[in-house]
Amino acid sequence: MSETATKGGAGAKATNDIKDIRLADEGRRRTEWAERSMPVLRQIRERFTRERPLTGRRLAACLHVTTETANLAVTLQAGGADVALCASNPLSTQDDVAAHLVKDHGIKVFAIKGEDHATYYEHIRAALAHRADITMDDGADLVGALHMIALNRLDDLAPPVRKWVETLSAADRKALVGGVIGSTEETTTGVIRLKAMAKDGVLQFPVIAVNDSLTKHLFDNRYGTGQSTLDGIIRATNLLIAGSTVVVAGYGWCGRGFAMRARGAGANVLVTEIDPMKALEAQMDGYRVLRMEDAAPVGDLFVTLTGNVEVIRVEHMRAMKDGAILANSGHFNVEIDLEGLKKTAEGPKRVREFVEEWRIGGKRLFVLADGRLINLAAAEGHPASVMDMSFANQALAAEYVVDKAKKLTKDVHRIPVELDQEIARLKLQATGVAIDTLTPAQRKYLASWDMGT
Ligand SMILES: NC(=O)c1ccc[n+]([C@@H]2O[C@H](COP(=O)([O-])OP(=O)(O)OC[C@H]3O[C@@H](n4cnc5c(N)ncnc54)[C@H](O)[C@@H]3O)[C@@H](O)[C@H]2O)c1
Repeated sequence: MSETATKGGAGAKATNDIKDIRLADEGRRRTEWAERSMPVLRQIRERFTRERPLTGRRLAACLHVTTETANLAVTLQAGGADVALCASNPLSTQDDVAAHLVKDHGIKVFAIKGEDHATYYEHIRAALAHRADITMDDGADLVGALHMIALNRLDDLAPPVRKWVETLSAADRKALVGGVIGSTEETTTGVIRLKAMAKDGVLQFPVIAVNDSLTKHLFDNRYGTGQSTLDGIIRATNLLIAGSTVVVAGYGWCGRGFAMRARGAGANVLVTEIDPMKALEAQMDGYRVLRMEDAAPVGDLFVTLTGNVEVIRVEHMRAMKDGAILANSGHFNVEIDLEGLKKTAEGPKRVREFVEEWRIGGKRLFVLADGRLINLAAAEGHPASVMDMSFANQALAAEYVVDKAKKLTKDVHRIPVELDQEIARLKLQATGVAIDTLTPAQRKYLASWDMGT
């Protein structure tokens, strides 16, 4: 473990906490490889280097520490921000990338792959102690903690965070939350939590829902999750997908992406849903739609992508075939009822990296990556090309927060549609795709109600 002393906020231990600084060279090589597929973010970085829109800003980010995130962190730093980074999932950190950011860029990183619950929250604490004026979340863990502090709900904080907050004076706690001018959120689950906070009237600062940009969820959630989830499952199991029956829980952006890729690999895909519109779309896209209780006895592989709790419950697991495999690619490890499984089944027995065997009713079930995001735990997360657009949104959202903080209400906002479209335009340009433009006659026709009928 490397402990590099840095200057942090009051009460902070002010260190980096990463696995091994000697991994930095490998992290740098892999981050450079990702950068080749991130032309939009690269252009933003070049502009940030010239214009320095984030000068003097302290930014705390809680994101999956991957090669793509490294490119984002360096972009934010190029814009003038003082960046601290912690992991948004205990299993998603790429230790070589963490080392590279510390060694080559002096970015404060608090993340170790496989960290336990206490260490995960100690790292969140360290990011909070950075006393950021902009926070960047993937799952709202930083913002969630800041709100528990603001609302004095210290019992709802994880112990490492709570103990630290208890050492702060009331004025210090107020300054910690009050110092945040705005925040950005990467994923569906985080945005759902933030909208709930706004609805309850407790949101303390404006938040930009990056996930709501079209250049984010149409591509990252669908094509990114679709491909990387399959990649994670295959790397973890070496399963032959062709001919297998794959049950996809949730037909939102992630679910439809994964269903498409599983079908492409030859699986017989079944879909479960709770939303009639999504269920109908799945049916007309050619999938069989059924209830989980009906899918349970026939599936070979079950994958949850709902952002909801207890989607696969013990009663479903009892009905599954011997040898069924369960994986999750939704944000939190709550979609498969692992607590229920622990109480009911024998195990776990680790049979392979990321694969645990449980015995229930004389049958074996295999749970991948402790029910955590399989694409980040067992594979490398989304391809850089798709994260290019997600993180272009993040970088522009940070700039937007700085520009507009005083005008934005304490609510959940989208980045302006023009910026979203600009990202799409730059992405097309970078991939050498030209599209048509409206002729004057077309523009006039589209703006009128009485022409050419
Ligand atoms: N693995 C990744 O890298 C990755 C990337 C992006 C998003 N996510 C996460 O994946 C999850 C889904 O995101 P999304 O953008 O697809 O959301 P979404 O809202 O587009 O889709 C979720 C779908 O799940 C359905 N659903 C809810 N409860 C259900 C249940 N009990 N059974 C069956 N279906 C149910 C909803 O009706 C909805 O159609 C979120 O937690 C999100 O944060 C993960």
